[in-house]
Amino acid sequence: MNDQENNTQEQEQQSDSRWIGTANHGFAPYAQEELKRAFGAVKSSVLVASEVLLLTLPVASEQVVQRLLAEPPMFLRHIQPVHYDLVLDQIDAAQHPFDVLADLLLKRDELKGIRLAVHIRKTADATPEENASELRLLLEQRLMGLQSDFAVQDADKVVSVFWTAERLYAGISVPTDNLSDWNGGAVRFQREEGQISRAKFKLLEAERVFGIDFTAFRSAVDVGAAPGGWTSFLLDKGLQVTAVDPAKMDPSLQNIPNLKVVKKNAADVKFKPNEFDLLVCDMSWSPKLTAKLVIGMLDAVVPGGTVIVTVKLMNKKPLALIKEVISTFEEARMQVQRAKQLFHNRDEITLYMVKY
Ligand SMILES: C[S@@+](CC[C@H](N)C(=O)[O-])C[C@H]1O[C@@H](n2cnc3c(N)ncnc32)[C@H](O)[C@@H]1O
Repeated sequence: MNDQENNTQEQEQQSDSRWIGTANHGFAPYAQEELKRAFGAVKSSVLVASEVLLLTLPVASEQVVQRLLAEPPMFLRHIQPVHYDLVLDQIDAAQHPFDVLADLLLKRDELKGIRLAVHIRKTADATPEENASELRLLLEQRLMGLQSDFAVQDADKVVSVFWTAERLYAGISVPTDNLSDWNGGAVRFQREEGQISRAKFKLLEAERVFGIDFTAFRSAVDVGAAPGGWTSFLLDKGLQVTAVDPAKMDPSLQNIPNLKVVKKNAADVKFKPNEFDLLVCDMSWSPKLTAKLVIGMLDAVVPGGTVIVTVKLMNKKPLALIKEVISTFEEARMQVQRAKQLFHNRDEITLYMVKY
């Protein structure tokens, strides 16, 4: 048995577990705070400033996954286990680090004959010249002996590799246990021709991550709709849409039969009770005022209707701010299904709520 294997077995026998955790840039400290609240003592070091952390949690892997899936964190976007921690300096210069890693992985029976995803990330100062997808192909070539099908989506297992200047970390997991089945939780959508705004990606991601079936709605109000990325997404799903915004909608949204544009400040608009079964709001405005404005419009939403709101994180204490905004909504007959910083959220989170 070599040192690397020894090292690995020791790690697996301990009741604590090692992970690489990723948040949107600037939000890793809040992801760490969430983990501290969930697990108590958390040891961490920075792999990528403000974004990626190497973590030791004081409980075994299964419990970590169980708890994170039961109470999904807001800022921790992705987590991957560290089962192998290879010190690059200790690897014979004649060997590629992937030769060493592949030798270890080829012994893992649970990786044989399955749909297998290989996720590779590296830091800017990591030695290999190849980019992440070239590295993925290199590792896949070395793993041919597993007789597995390499898959991007819907894999049975994922091998997640993180390469830094000094070390190569790798772990094996079920993709859903990583909180996201995308590499590092970076959900990538292709920009379509004629796409009105990047904001559309936020709703596309909410659809996937929260599992919302937008075709099930009938009539939506889009508050703060311009230039119309969300509106066009909802129209594409077959909904009647009322778009409220004093600013101009994209010219491609003129004369659309299912669309009514109200070119006004939302505070000055009055709707009939129960007119909508979906309210979406992406105003990029003060969170407390946004909450007040949305609550003022709730009569227009049917009981059981869905409300999706982006909450801008204006100050230095996002966890406290979110707590306050959530209790404001809860006091107004809203049940929060999920609060999450999506990959496509910048300085904001997305709230997915149901009116009762
Ligand atoms: C980030 S943009 C929305 C982008 C949109 N979701 C999309 O996909 O294209 C924010 C919009 O909110 C609008 N807005 C801000 N305050 C508003 C208010 N009180 N009433 C209505 N719209 C408002 C702004 O005019 C701006 O067009």
